[in-house]
Amino acid sequence: MRKIVLLFVFCVLCLVRLVSAQKPSTDGKTFPNLGKLMPIGAYYYPEHWEQNQWDRDLKKMADMGFTFTHFAEFAWSRIEPTEGVYAWDWLDRSLELATRHGLKVVMCTPTATPPAWMFRKYPQIQVLGANGRPQEMGNRLHASFSDPFFAEQCKRIAKAMVKRYGNNPTIIGWQISNEPHYAGQYDYSPAAEAAFRKFIRTKYADNIDTLNKAWGTAFWSQSYNNWEQIKIPNKQLGDVNHHALLDFQLSTAAEIANNLNLQADILKQGSIGQFVTTNYAYFKFLPEVNPFLTARNLDFSSYTFYPLSTFLDSPKGALAHRLGSGMEMSYAHDLARSTNGTTGIMELQPGQINWGSYNSIPLPGAVRMWLYHNFGMGASFACTYRFRQPLFAGEQYHKGIMETDGTTPSRGGLEYVQTIEELDAIAKEADPKATLPAAIAGMKTAILWKQENILDIANQPHNSSFDWWRVMYNYYSAAKSAGAQVTFLPPNAALSPKEYPFVIVPAYQMADRAEVQKWKQYAEAGGHLIISARTAQKNKYGHLHQLLFGDMIADLTGNHIQEIDQLPIAMPGKIVGKAGLAGKDFAWSVWGEILNPAATPKLTPLASYADDFYAGKPAATRYLIGDGSVSYVAAISTDGALEREVTYNAYRSAGQTPFNLPNYVFLEWTKGLFTCVNYTSEDYKIALPMAKRLVGTDVVAPGGVSVWK
Ligand code: GAL
Repeated sequence: MRKIVLLFVFCVLCLVRLVSAQKPSTDGKTFPNLGKLMPIGAYYYPEHWEQNQWDRDLKKMADMGFTFTHFAEFAWSRIEPTEGVYAWDWLDRSLELATRHGLKVVMCTPTATPPAWMFRKYPQIQVLGANGRPQEMGNRLHASFSDPFFAEQCKRIAKAMVKRYGNNPTIIGWQISNEPHYAGQYDYSPAAEAAFRKFIRTKYADNIDTLNKAWGTAFWSQSYNNWEQIKIPNKQLGDVNHHALLDFQLSTAAEIANNLNLQADILKQGSIGQFVTTNYAYFKFLPEVNPFLTARNLDFSSYTFYPLSTFLDSPKGALAHRLGSGMEMSYAHDLARSTNGTTGIMELQPGQINWGSYNSIPLPGAVRMWLYHNFGMGASFACTYRFRQPLFAGEQYHKGIMETDGTTPSRGGLEYVQTIEELDAIAKEADPKATLPAAIAGMKTAILWKQENILDIANQPHNSSFDWWRVMYNYYSAAKSAGAQVTFLPPNAALSPKEYPFVIVPAYQMADRAEVQKWKQYAEAGGHLIISARTAQKNKYGHLHQLLFGDMIADLTGNHIQEIDQLPIAMPGKIVGKAGLAGKDFAWSVWGEILNPAATPKLTPLASYADDFYAGKPAATRYLIGDGSVSYVAAISTDGALEREVTYNAYRSAGQTPFNLPNYVFLEWTKGLFTCVNYTSEDYKIALPMAKRLVGTDVVAPGGVSVWK
């Protein structure tokens, strides 16, 4: 049993100098609490079941303690079976039954699945794949957001729905579409090409020479004479100009956001007291989606997450395939929350799924742990996909809250009931107005997030093993293991040391002088920056700066970059810690910048390379600047240990006490309660002796949960 005592943390927490460091959640509408600590709901598809089962099912859902359900995100062909003819009776009836059983409803616009009559009569709406073939029926998100006719159809169905249900008191809010993105990732249709040309004409002020410069078309004789010569860069057809590719990716993000925003405006105008959201799918799979582009029009972003997806990072360990990736769920939550200050999980796995490369049974207790994890992170609601296990079509073997007979609760279903009952039992202990304890508030951390960095590095990694997500997770997990609350900030956000004493800048490859200046002002004003390798090396077009390499941030970090090295993965190099990191060794291979630091007492080397002809050169430094500091991590370590130590050093040097949790053990605080969940395969012993334990024990087993006041 791993024994890590968090006594010191608790002492700090108990000397509580409570500070009110939390921002008011949002100016828009939030998910109503429905009298619960965290309302929990389940998706229901009346259109999948005999009508004589709806009443039984919705009653059962309510009896199990669910407070809301979720209708219609794929039901366009039921709502409008033929062009212009609406069939509301079944949805009216479903709403009446939900009302009768005291369930609230999240109503959805069904625009992810246009009906067959539309697809066949107006084939121009079809998404064209990279292979030149139209996306066929049977899929979802296969209509082009760029097609003006399809945009009109989306508006029309949204208007019709909100006209009918916009003041229905059973409906608490709207979800637009489902997991907005493109089937096949990108659309190469004529409509998408027209949208792309419009996007670049606006971006380059209608000046083709500006575009030629920005895209570096002098290279390999690619110069364009006019806009009509420009096509969507398509990697399936050969090599592409990666500046053009980045613009196409950004144009796609804008097209997806436009469709959501135009629907959001209609729903907001037509409804009374109902929120408007969408359920973003996991961002790592969909880097072409930018949730900040809908922040102004949606009330909040929600997200979907299936922790046992076998495509995600999990902790190593014998139970990893049954516990899943808490780190990635945590990231999804924090990114969605960052758009509007509040969020909830719209789809959470109820048991086994059907689409992993294999689909293990969750460890008994894991489903409950995922719910508690969301509660601990401050989710304003949780909802599971789905109430009943489907019997037909594409998702057979995907568990529901009920088994295939429709009447027997599944193991996951019973864990939902247990969690609902437990949360009800502890609700009186929670204080929604409690302020964040000083020990956590003092470590509030922002991570700078810019979509271009993720895309551009993936387009030109320069090392096939370079993974922007790895860099992000090295820092994100460092902050989470410290117990810090993390918010992601888009490029236009203000940086205030008071609001975020720590700001992490992870592989922020594209940054111009103005952005760097903002970082500098933040540090001078007392903020603590932690900047990773591969930052500010390119301008906003993705060109390398015409400076000595790395000099865009030399004033900020106190270092010049001599060269950048990379090693074969099988031959990692060694880095040795110094100063606050003395006695620690680290391994690296993917990216290592060799630093020439300024000779000033304001700069402290924190680690140096141990091998090769540059042995002794710094690999990490801390530089005092104004009232703040800048830690620079010039190498990407193989396991994130260097990033963790430098981040901890920044916290400690500023007088904070990181919790030092193992990765994948989370200790979260919300509404006056601490929640600990454990995704590792070993017990975790936590000591909060003066706290009142409400759930669990002081030893949190794998898949376990403990809650303290
Ligand atoms: C989600 C999707 C749902 C359903 C689910 C199955 O990504 O939004 O509609 O397909 O996966 O796990």
